[in-house]
Amino acid sequence: MSDASIMPAHPPVTDWVNDFDHTDPRWTENPYPIWDQMRAVTPVAHTNRFQGCYMPTTYEAVRQISHDTEHFSSRRVIVRDERPEVARNAAPPITSDPPEHKPAKQLLLPPFTPDAVKKLEPRVRAICSELIDGFLADGKCDAAQAYTKYIPVRTMAYLLGIPESDSDLFVKWIHQILELSIKNESMLVQAVQEMTAYFTPYVEARRNSPGDDLISYLLKARDKNGQPLEDSHVMGTVRLALIAGIDTTWSAIGASMWHLARTPSDRKRLLAEPELMPTAVEEFLRAYAPVTMAREVMKETTVQGCPMKPGNTVLLSFPSANRDPKAFPDADKVLIDRKQNPHSAFGLGVHRCVGSNLARMEITVALEEWLKRIPEFRLDPADKVTWSQGTVRGPRRMQILFG
Ligand code: HEM
Repeated sequence: MSDASIMPAHPPVTDWVNDFDHTDPRWTENPYPIWDQMRAVTPVAHTNRFQGCYMPTTYEAVRQISHDTEHFSSRRVIVRDERPEVARNAAPPITSDPPEHKPAKQLLLPPFTPDAVKKLEPRVRAICSELIDGFLADGKCDAAQAYTKYIPVRTMAYLLGIPESDSDLFVKWIHQILELSIKNESMLVQAVQEMTAYFTPYVEARRNSPGDDLISYLLKARDKNGQPLEDSHVMGTVRLALIAGIDTTWSAIGASMWHLARTPSDRKRLLAEPELMPTAVEEFLRAYAPVTMAREVMKETTVQGCPMKPGNTVLLSFPSANRDPKAFPDADKVLIDRKQNPHSAFGLGVHRCVGSNLARMEITVALEEWLKRIPEFRLDPADKVTWSQGTVRGPRRMQILFG
């Protein structure tokens, strides 16, 4: 079945400020001029689509909403056509609000500290190198499908202690949850059921015979009353790790490579000055931030002078905040040596990303290993780069020539 046959088309947008739609093909293709247009008119736009939805367009409006857990709930983190019932323990901590959020987040921090991530680095380097071996002799590859996708999928599988060879299954579920379910709720239900059925035997096996993987870690964890986590909490967090850790990083690595493939001056500079890698990675994260989340308005409030009413959702666009010229000088330029870069790609406020150390390491290692073996490369002018739609944006087809 093609995506088109399971995703009903929305009417095309003619007014981005009063009738926006983040699934419109023009938004998917190149959202930046659309956001600039919206931001020039209002800090908070509204659409009647998606049963009513606001979009903060400025850094300040995104920051304010992210920090306000009293008026904005995380129980819905994706803006969809439908509003299915909210499941308990859907994906803690990302779907949790205070006071449940803090303990759920704190127990997830230790496996993602800089030291813990450092231990994963050799495996990530080996994965990158193995993937490059697979296409180096061809002089070309679809880097989105053959390289950038498999780095986070295999890393997360390794971290969870599940077979890296099941990678394509994980990618299918994530596509269903993050993209197809926006317009077809049954995709969400199906993917969650399949994931739960897949992980149940692994959870049971680790209960009897723990290892040093993330599933065993969650089974060993105790809540503030010294009790083991509920089964639904363990399963929700395992699902979240897979969903949060794959499409996001796939997109960030892909967008960074897309930039280098079409900007030879930055590619050459990074080869000549590898010490710029940390600032370059931060700049790619700012300029091409892949993740847009959602909130639900719970109580009437005002943000930057704009009234916001309960019953609406919010398209929380960290990527648009990162392009706000009031927050970043030359916001529309990619400056790989940008010094001040307090970007919001990993979120702002209590839900800030747990996996940022891991993501940064994966992006850095992916670029280093590629540049080491393929220093000269460019986009195939005969092919079109395609981008994922909706919640997480990154290249999904990207033919690169390096022969
Ligand atoms: C470049 C890659 C990544 C980006 C851009 C990214 C972005 C984000 C953003 C924007 C949020 C905030 C969500 C919100 O406010 O509702 C978030 C939360 C989260 N991310 Fe990431 N993420 C990335 C990689 C990862 C990885 C590798 C993991 C590892 C499993 C991960 C796990 C999480 C978790 C568990 C949360 C929820 C934190 C909470 O609710 O307190 N992310 N991420």
